[in-house]
Amino acid sequence: MTRDEARRKIIFALDVDTVDEVERWAGLLAGRVGMFKIGKQLYTSCGPQTVRVVRERGGEVFLDLKYHDIPNTVAMATLAAARMGVTLCNLHALGGYEMMATTVGALEKEFPGGGRPKVLAVTILTSSTAETLKGVGIDLPVSEMVVKLALLAKSAGIDGVVASPLEVSLIREACGDDFLVVTPGVRPSFASVDDQKRIMTPADAVKGGADYLVIGRPIAAAADPVAACEAIIDEITL
Ligand code: C5P
Repeated sequence: MTRDEARRKIIFALDVDTVDEVERWAGLLAGRVGMFKIGKQLYTSCGPQTVRVVRERGGEVFLDLKYHDIPNTVAMATLAAARMGVTLCNLHALGGYEMMATTVGALEKEFPGGGRPKVLAVTILTSSTAETLKGVGIDLPVSEMVVKLALLAKSAGIDGVVASPLEVSLIREACGDDFLVVTPGVRPSFASVDDQKRIMTPADAVKGGADYLVIGRPIAAAADPVAACEAIIDEITL
């Protein structure tokens, strides 16, 4: 893999609260990472301006708002994200087949020639355990639910899933190569583990079949974030 291919796999998690910080990080890392992830905290604080600021500095955006609502509402919200020019967005597979298929259908109608964002499904949040699932009336083991929901998402036309690094190979096996797998919870060999528990190195996650890696603190908390970013790219390239 070339350094450029490795670079494009990195999604930097913009876990900040202000547009000033978005400007600073996008200015520093655009062209050095593949994408910037904007989540609920930042988007709720600062809104669509965050997407504009990243895009104006040449960065691509993964809008991580994990929609889960009636099919029409999720489809309309996803269209709104698409019109802002995001590259990736996501929804909860637990919203069901119709919610996912309606969303993909609405995007394809508006972007008939292609160029629409890719839509990812969240299967089971990695914070959920068998106990969490039991509490909401689901008796299947977590790993079975993850595969079941990934297959459901694929059948509804969804482009891929967000998954823990430990689930990547299971999903690859079930859903094939033509399905994106995006994984947080990676830690390069030089970085601290923070609060992440079931981790893997970026290189191992990519070897296991991950298309994109969501990385926050190993870059953001480094003394020299650009050097940390390049070191991660080295690890993936080797
Ligand atoms: O700083 P760190 O690299 O741990 O950041 C990872 C990013 O991925 C954060 O934005 C976090 O919310 C997100 N994430 C995660 N684990 C999940 C799902 C998302 O760490 N299971």
